[in-house]
Amino acid sequence: MSTDEKQRGSGIAAPPKQILDSMLNTAFPLVVADQFIQATRDSGYKSLGSALAELVDNAFEAKASNVIITLEKRKIDDAQDVLVRVADDGLGMNVETLRHALQFGWSSRFNQRDSHGRYGMGLPNASLSHARRAEILSSCDGMAASGTYLDVDEIVSGHTEGIPEPYAVSWTEFTRTSLFQRGTAVTWRKCDRLLERKLGPLTRRLRVELGRLFRYQIWAKKSIVVNGEVVVPFDPTFTREGANLVGASPFGPVLTFEVTISNGNGQVKSSIINVRFVELPVSEWHGLSNVEKNSQGIAKNAGVSIVRAGREIDCGWFFMGQKRKENYDDWWRCEVCFDPDLDELFGVTHTKQEIHPTEQLLSILVPDLERTARELNARARRAFTEVKDAALRRRSESLAERFDNLMEPPGENDRKTKRAPRQRFKGGRGQIAGLEYRLRFNAFEGEDLFEASLDGTRLAVTLNENHPFVRRVWPTDGDRGEQGGEMQYTVELLLLALARCEFALARMPEDRQRIEVFRHAWSNTLATFLT
Ligand SMILES: Nc1ncnc2c1ncn2[C@@H]1O[C@H](COP(=O)(O)OP(=O)(O)OP(=O)(O)O)[C@@H](O)[C@H]1O
Ligand SMILES: [Mg+2]
Repeated sequence: MSTDEKQRGSGIAAPPKQILDSMLNTAFPLVVADQFIQATRDSGYKSLGSALAELVDNAFEAKASNVIITLEKRKIDDAQDVLVRVADDGLGMNVETLRHALQFGWSSRFNQRDSHGRYGMGLPNASLSHARRAEILSSCDGMAASGTYLDVDEIVSGHTEGIPEPYAVSWTEFTRTSLFQRGTAVTWRKCDRLLERKLGPLTRRLRVELGRLFRYQIWAKKSIVVNGEVVVPFDPTFTREGANLVGASPFGPVLTFEVTISNGNGQVKSSIINVRFVELPVSEWHGLSNVEKNSQGIAKNAGVSIVRAGREIDCGWFFMGQKRKENYDDWWRCEVCFDPDLDELFGVTHTKQEIHPTEQLLSILVPDLERTARELNARARRAFTEVKDAALRRRSESLAERFDNLMEPPGENDRKTKRAPRQRFKGGRGQIAGLEYRLRFNAFEGEDLFEASLDGTRLAVTLNENHPFVRRVWPTDGDRGEQGGEMQYTVELLLLALARCEFALARMPEDRQRIEVFRHAWSNTLATFLT
């Protein structure tokens, strides 16, 4: 059917042929190249790292094992310039691909959902966000190389109209630039947006950022080097080896959410979102200095790491519903992993550096994630209370607790009297840790040196401040505080041991009575000696 016939069918009058021809010849181009190229520079990459991540994505998608990034200041014609280069040992590009690679919107994998790239925007967009000129040299056979470039100034001045036809590059030039025998080297020149930056700190920050973004690739033995130094992975969940501390423990099983999506052709398929939580070890890390907590990414980094196709694209306070962020939330982390076929659901944009979750996604994830976050917050709060209690512990109490489990628990005796055994005090990692000890001072009636009680697994000993022995051994309030001297510490152990033995030997109620009579007489005798 001709255009005329189609339009007749639709009831719209077709323009006469001469008008149609002239319309096609003078059709407005989709973009005004010189203005577009300047406007698109502000596409909003959050950092140098997130822009370079586009190039590293491309390198790994081209099956590179090694990526070398170089940042250097150069003087060109008496003017300062910053040069940024990303070289990889991947598959490289043939001339046909190279011709298109710098075109906005061209992709050899347009809208494919099996890996990172799908928009055809990453390379030109990320490059121009920091540079006024991007050059590519590439070799896909290890024998010959070609190159092309995109130059903002040449387009604005009308010197070139687009991307020049790829030209042959000498092998010497290729290997000098790329450092590899095959692959691609992208060079950013005229980096006007980096001119004011100090390269030392910028490079260090870049390594840290890439180490976090590409942690899974580095663990899978890919290598990224920035100015001669290898990028070390950083695990924001503090679980795997890297530049981070290791010591967080998983909280609950990995949660999986199966989402059914339509691929637009009426077919449906499912995709999985994996969510895992970890708890940071409060008792071990709470004592780190603030500087360490900051540099380790513990403080003020609460929230969720969002990982798309194995690469982190965002992190922050996501999926927490009504729950506000508190300091206790620094002590757990969450990681949400998904595949690019859920991009629409997560609201991924072409810069691949942030998400904008849809209502549908929120309704899937928030109920479970908010509930778990509240639970973890409460656990962190409790862990801090325990840490505070432990800090107020007497040395004698801690020592007695450490060794108590080497002895038969006093509660074992109950078995012989057919009573239920006492519940044992659980130590770290589920070990039986024996009794908890408490030693306190109080002035009470009567002549006994101390009173003792065994409540569950807690053995409490209260020393009588009215007894002359107590006044002699702990004469001041300071001595009775948490940190007494060496002599007090030894006497405290003696008394804790005594109290423990009383309970271990008192199998019947009449035993207990006899022991109390003995303690009373013993306390009296001691008081007589001391007065
Ligand atoms: N380092 C590289 N090695 C091989 N081919 C590359 C490399 N970088 C880019 N390309 C080619 O250039 C094309 C354009 O890259 P670009 O990053 O702009 O888009 P994309 O990766 O396809 O999609 P996205 O915009 O999502 O990143 C790619 O599809 C790929 O064919
Ligand atoms: Mg890309």
